[in-house]
Amino acid sequence: MCQTTYEVKSMVKISPLTKADIKAVVLLEEAFLKETLGEELLESELNSNITKFYVAKIDNKVVGYIGRYAYLDEAEILNFVVDEKYQRKGIGQSLFDQIKKDLPTLKRITLEVRPSNAKAINFYTKNGFQNISIRKNYYQNGEDALVLMKEYL
Ligand SMILES: CC(C)(COP(=O)(O)OP(=O)(O)OC[C@H]1O[C@@H](n2cnc3c(N)ncnc32)[C@H](O)[C@@H]1OP(=O)(O)O)[C@@H](O)C(=O)NCCC(=O)NCCS
Repeated sequence: MCQTTYEVKSMVKISPLTKADIKAVVLLEEAFLKETLGEELLESELNSNITKFYVAKIDNKVVGYIGRYAYLDEAEILNFVVDEKYQRKGIGQSLFDQIKKDLPTLKRITLEVRPSNAKAINFYTKNGFQNISIRKNYYQNGEDALVLMKEYL
């Protein structure tokens, strides 16, 4: 794997999650996020108006995905992961940008992240998120969650 960011970005296709993608998404979550929303939940949300998932594919292979919940002008990021082999090549950015493309009137977006997750915190800081609160003992291992928010002005 030695493709440049430019090459990878031109090969990636972002599309809404379909039933056929779900198994690959669960495997991706298990491998690189160590937790999964699960096949049943993903399938039950396929036709939802408020919850939406997008996959990033290269040559028809799922290499990343993002999910969001949206209500009025607010959204919350659910899960977000890119295959480690393809990280830091702009795929996460393309997935993240898709949320706003589909919700042009979006004003605010929030999420929870582990304080130990430096890669993700870098990503969100680069994208203008700020820490607005902490949820104590949020994760199963007792780790707190940082609540981050970005406002679209
Ligand atoms: C967070 C994640 C989805 C980002 O995806 P990505 O495709 O690597 O992101 P992009 O290439 O679009 O974004 C790059 C930015 O993210 C940050 N970043 C990504 N990888 C990084 C790394 N290894 N070290 C430090 N910062 C990193 C940087 O700010 C980087 O910008 P830069 O390259 O200009 O410095 C990915 O790191 C990932 O899947 N992590 C594991 C799962 C996870 O933690 N998900 C988030 C849960 S809240």
